[in-house]
Amino acid sequence: MKRWLFLLILPLLVAACGGGESKPAGNALHLPPPGFVGDGAKGAVVYRQNCQSCHGAEASGTERGPSLLRGIYAPNRHANLAFHLAVKNGVRAHHDSKGDMPPLQVSPEDVEHVIQYVRELQVKAGVFQP
Ligand code: HEC
Repeated sequence: MKRWLFLLILPLLVAACGGGESKPAGNALHLPPPGFVGDGAKGAVVYRQNCQSCHGAEASGTERGPSLLRGIYAPNRHANLAFHLAVKNGVRAHHDSKGDMPPLQVSPEDVEHVIQYVRELQVKAGVFQP
């Protein structure tokens, strides 16, 4: 490869790797450490504090946010990663006209607990079978 081309590409590579910081990749994606298992009971508490005002009691929905018990939010349509990204980056309304979801300050571990809680509610509501 020509040297000038390499020098052109190098900063891009460094940028793509997070500026040379040694954070694990999961951090950039706002994910808990590998092997971390969410706890639905803890998730219920986090959910009530951070999600319920819009997504409703037991994820049933409100004027400000959709019910997460709809088929489109089952794991095969919105995988756990979609939940992590929704909390980290916010969501521009695209399924409903209830407005946007703002980014929220909730730790990756707490989001994982919330996901477990929502998955349990989805199973109870027959949205999917585990
Ligand atoms: C201020 C209101 C509000 C709060 C608080 C809120 N949401 Fe949302 N959420 C929304 C709205 C509005 C949408 C967008 C619906 C649409 O697509 O039209 C949304 C979408 C989502 C989606 C779907 C993302 C996608 O890719 O389509 C997930 C998952 C989600 N929220 C999870 C959560 C979780 C978990 C919490 C709590 C940690 C939370 N939300 C808190 C309003 C809220």
